[in-house]
Amino acid sequence: MATPTMDKVDDAKPAAVPSPYITVTFRIRRFNPEISAEAEWQDFPIEIDPKERVLDGLHKIKWETDGTLTFRRSCAHGICGSDAMRINGKNRLACKTLIKDINPEKPITIEAIKGLTVLKDLVVDMDPFFQAYRDVMPFLITKGNEPTRERLQSAEDRERFDDTTKCILCAACTSSCPVFWNDGQYFGPAAIVNAHRFIFDSRDEGGEQRLEILNDKDGVWRCRTTFNCTDACPRGIEVTKAIQEVKRALITRRF
Ligand code: SF4
Ligand code: FES
Repeated sequence: MATPTMDKVDDAKPAAVPSPYITVTFRIRRFNPEISAEAEWQDFPIEIDPKERVLDGLHKIKWETDGTLTFRRSCAHGICGSDAMRINGKNRLACKTLIKDINPEKPITIEAIKGLTVLKDLVVDMDPFFQAYRDVMPFLITKGNEPTRERLQSAEDRERFDDTTKCILCAACTSSCPVFWNDGQYFGPAAIVNAHRFIFDSRDEGGEQRLEILNDKDGVWRCRTTFNCTDACPRGIEVTKAIQEVKRALITRRF
């Protein structure tokens, strides 16, 4: 009878798991009016998993290297619209931009969005942006008595403005627009997108008022159809198309 044997115990050490971390340089345009009137670039080498986001890298710098680094963020999930910035020369949300997608072999440049006054580092003064938004009356306007039941709308009517309901007011479109860079008086794509959302809403009765507001010298006719806004929108809104639809509504008065 064969003598039972024990299975051979493999005492070899498990293979080392390769580290996912790589060294990436964040090249950030710093500005602090209390220190200097000039902005300057500063390099921050960081160890980071390339599957992480630019926002994670900014947090790492702020929490571990330089607490004075200033930027806005809130939700960290592409909803609040507060962390639009120029990353490698393109407007993006830091919380939606993966390091691996933006060529981490080279320094990643990060700066404030253009066309709005920089207050500190990556933070701009959003007041003119939100003023233009308020100016187009981004709320439902109705006449007559309040209905006793909900205002009904067909699926087709709802579809007409579905795209523009997705706006998160991040300003990536407006701050990528060369017309806005040259003259901050232009309402800008985001305000027009939010006017579109109500102009084409069959329940709304303030369309004519909004169209007149956008018929102004600083309104939709300033748009030069460069498509920068559409390219910049992190929500995939067809911004230029919405602007064109508002222009057409101004000419035909049909909406
Ligand atoms: S239209 Fe797009 S890019 Fe412009 S503010 Fe809205 S979400 Fe941002
Ligand atoms: S932090 Fe809210 S959209 Fe990026």
